[in-house]
Amino acid sequence: MFITFEGPDGCGKSTQSRLMAEKLEAVGYRVVYTREPGGTDIGRKIRQIVLSNTNEGMSPVAEALLYAADRAQHVFETIGPALKAGYIVVSDRFVDSSFAYQAVALNVGMDEVKSANDIATGGLKPDLTILLDVDPETGIFRVKRSKSKGSSEAQVDRIEARDLEYHGRVRKAYLDMAAKEPGRIKVVDAKSGDVATVHSKVSDIVMGFLSSRGVTK
Ligand code: TYD
Repeated sequence: MFITFEGPDGCGKSTQSRLMAEKLEAVGYRVVYTREPGGTDIGRKIRQIVLSNTNEGMSPVAEALLYAADRAQHVFETIGPALKAGYIVVSDRFVDSSFAYQAVALNVGMDEVKSANDIATGGLKPDLTILLDVDPETGIFRVKRSKSKGSSEAQVDRIEARDLEYHGRVRKAYLDMAAKEPGRIKVVDAKSGDVATVHSKVSDIVMGFLSSRGVTK
C-alpha cells in the first residue's frame, strides 16, 4: 500500500505523516516513511537546487522537471523496492504536489506535468492520499512563525516565498483534484493546527482504509 500526504505549505503534513507512520509501526505494520523532495541522497542535492533562494531565475519547466527527477530517483531507489517487499510506504508529498504547484499554480500545464511524471514514476499512483487543507494566510503564517523559531531549514524557501495568490492557487488545485478523485484523495481540515485532533481524523481514515482493503500486519 502506498499512502501519501499532501497539502499547501504550512498545513502540518510533515508532522501528521510522521505521526501516522509511527502509529502504523506501533500497531505492527511494516512501514517505510519517506519524503519529497529529497527522499534519497541524490534527491537531497536536487532539493537544494530547487528550493534555494539563489535560483530565482529558474524556469517553470526546469522546476517541474527537477521535481520529476527527484521523484524518479525516489521511486527507483526507495518507494518501488519497498512496495515490492511488502512494506506500507508513507510519503510526505508525491506527484499531486507537482500537479498543484507546477502544473496549475505555475501554469506548466497538466498534460505536460503528467507526461514527465509518468516517465519518472512508471505511472505509479498512491492507493490513498490524505490532503491536509489550510487557507494560504494561515499556512504561510505558520511557515514563517516556525522558521523564525529556527529549525534545520531556518529560511523561508524559494517556493514558500511566493505570494499568497500563488499559494491560493495551490490550495484550489488540490481541492479540485480531491473533488475529481474522492475515492483516493481524502480531505482533512487542518486549519485548527491542533496536532492531536487532526491526527485522530487522519488515523480513522487510514485505519479504515487498510481494514477495508484487508491489509494484514
Ligand atoms: P516540503 O518538504 O513539504 O516543505 P518543508 O520542508 O518546508 O515542510 O516541500 C518543499 C517545497 O517543495 C514545498 O514548498 C512544496 C514544493 N514542491 C513542489 O512545488 N512540487 C513538488 O512536486 C514537490 C514534491 C514539492
